[in-house]
Amino acid sequence: MGFCCPVCNEALTFDGKSFVCPNRHCYDRSKSGYVNLLLSQSKKGARHGDDKRMVSARRAFLEKDFYLPFAEAAAKLAAFYFPQNGVFLDCGCGEGYYTQKVAVALAKSGKNGEILGIDISKDALNAAGKRGSFDALAVASAYRLPLSDESCDMVMTLFAPVCEEELFRVLKPEGLFLLGVPLRRHLFSLKAAVYAHPYENEEALPAFSRLHLIQKKEIKSRIVLEDPTNIQNLFLMTPYYYKTGREDQQKLQALTFLETEAEFGLFLYQKPKDFLESSLL
Ligand SMILES: C[S@@+](CC[C@H](N)C(=O)[O-])C[C@H]1O[C@@H](n2cnc3c(N)ncnc32)[C@H](O)[C@@H]1O
Ligand SMILES: [Zn+2]
Repeated sequence: MGFCCPVCNEALTFDGKSFVCPNRHCYDRSKSGYVNLLLSQSKKGARHGDDKRMVSARRAFLEKDFYLPFAEAAAKLAAFYFPQNGVFLDCGCGEGYYTQKVAVALAKSGKNGEILGIDISKDALNAAGKRGSFDALAVASAYRLPLSDESCDMVMTLFAPVCEEELFRVLKPEGLFLLGVPLRRHLFSLKAAVYAHPYENEEALPAFSRLHLIQKKEIKSRIVLEDPTNIQNLFLMTPYYYKTGREDQQKLQALTFLETEAEFGLFLYQKPKDFLESSLL
């Protein structure tokens, strides 16, 4: 298995230096181990996805296991349903904290398989490559996955963009999709400490038409941050940082203690065995 060529969709093989397809399209492997399969390269200097600062903040924060109850719940669910020798894709894997938890849970339950990761951010994949939990990593978009049809047993997306059409295409019949989202009150006290009028998150689940919801779970805890670096990192890894004015950022920088909600939803969907497009009926 592994990735396929984004130009002709044929399988890619690694020749020791680059990934090549039978039609001789060729993609170099980076030092940290990912391959760039994103066709729409942006203008020089323009960025895709999380930047270095967000990636290091996320890694530093997650490594302290503040979100461990959620990570363990996701890993446990993934390991329980993952078939022996299956193919697992972390879509929007970031720097790979959660993927590593899944890899450990799979190993503990005696399951082997291929673990793939894609993300649109090179900085995220540079960091993910250092974890050693992935069999292959590619820079790619969730809206155009470099994977052949019906090639994945399980896809996981945590706090990253979702495209049902692509998920449906790459999942095997009866394949599973594990989605993680923040719930309404997630980090509300963090927002209340910074903004005059904090809003709750919108709980907008994707409106899937072809994937069926088979299980859902809420994981709620409170985290206590007593080190300003942890508070800064938490803020930096969220989209709020870039939307926050100077004055509110200063308020945040002055915080030395924060107790806040960590509230997540886990949703497990399945691709039905036989699916007939209603337009074909
Ligand atoms: C909030 S982070 C979550 C990362 C990881 N799943 C985690 O929970 O630690 C969102 C990730 O989605 C990536 N991303 C954004 N747009 C994307 C797209 N169109 N395709 C793939 N990844 C994307 C970002 O680069 C970032 O790494
Ligand atoms: Zn090709």
